[in-house]
Amino acid sequence: AHMQPVRAEESSIWRECTRAKGASAGFKVALLGACGGIGQPLSLLLKLNPLVSTLHLYDVVNTPGVTADISHTDTTAVVRGFLGQPQLNAALDGADLVIIPAGIPRKPGMTRDDLFNINAGIVRTLIEGVAKSCPRAVIAIISNPVNSTVPIAAEVLKKAGVYDPKRLFGVTTLDVVRANTFVAEVIGVDPKGVNVPVYGGHAGITILPILSQVSPPFSFSKEEVDYLTNRIQNGGTEVVEAKAGAGSATLSMAYAAAKFAEAVLRAMRGESGIIECAYVASEVTELPFFATKVRLGRNGIDEIFPLGPLNEYERQGLAKLKAELKDSIEKGIKFVQNPP
Ligand code: NAI
Repeated sequence: AHMQPVRAEESSIWRECTRAKGASAGFKVALLGACGGIGQPLSLLLKLNPLVSTLHLYDVVNTPGVTADISHTDTTAVVRGFLGQPQLNAALDGADLVIIPAGIPRKPGMTRDDLFNINAGIVRTLIEGVAKSCPRAVIAIISNPVNSTVPIAAEVLKKAGVYDPKRLFGVTTLDVVRANTFVAEVIGVDPKGVNVPVYGGHAGITILPILSQVSPPFSFSKEEVDYLTNRIQNGGTEVVEAKAGAGSATLSMAYAAAKFAEAVLRAMRGESGIIECAYVASEVTELPFFATKVRLGRNGIDEIFPLGPLNEYERQGLAKLKAELKDSIEKGIKFVQNPP
């Protein structure tokens, strides 16, 4: 074998501190739906992440091509491709983190719930694979409708006797990323320094930006609050309409998922103080699933934070979203408990 120059992330100090904990230099990540609009750019972003040592790409089409292509980037992670259902278990074997953007996206005029009939079955099958092959993995679900697919995943894992609510996440990072971008525009600052909590769920009015808790603090006018809340809630639809039938958000979603994965992996490695909004099993409200701020740790969720002080506008938004979110959760649970 020829000599390879040592890369920064493989320096002896890094190796020693990871060896001391008995861990390898990085994590194994499985991406299910890796060849789609989100999957492809997300594969690339994960391949560039030094925390990822092994990247498994699974899809029902095109994995050999995407895997060959991605594998030529000169970054550390080893990439392997898996094609079709018979290879699902191999794709998942030993995964620390499973990210799922498999399923159909919206076209103009569709709600996320219109995707339920197809995506519910896809998520059920994929989670059955997780339950069998890597039941201790952290799971990040992107497939819509997230408000229902996360409860579906929970029910499938319960049935298999391996459910750990601390390890199951619905990815709502794109709502936060959009909120940060739009708020930064209004305030007139760099979005890098802005953080807007977004609570509730991931569809229409269930997306509840908490502008009163924005960091850095800012006092918005009534018009600004209306504009921002609407734009954040309809950010996905804005992209669906602009793409005019060619799909929904893929590039910004891949960015958001890569950001969320990075947070999960850094926390898994032992870094402290990592806080993200995500849709999780929760007792913060009377609903069994809800997106709020969570502190991440070595095993997924370490702590779920309370809502914090809401203003009247946000309290009304919260009251309104609960009925819709409750229905979406129940629809997901019913899909597994009494299959159609
Ligand atoms: P896409 O259609 O471009 O890609 C989906 C991929 O999933 C395809 O490569 C397809 O072959 C694959 N797939 C289908 N059935 C599969 C199965 N049984 N196992 C493995 N892979 C399978 O769709 P796109 O744009 O990548 O969106 C994917 C999902 O993400 C959609 O449901 C979309 O609504 C959702 N989404 C979620 C967002 C969020 O914020 N959580 C934001 C944007 C999209």
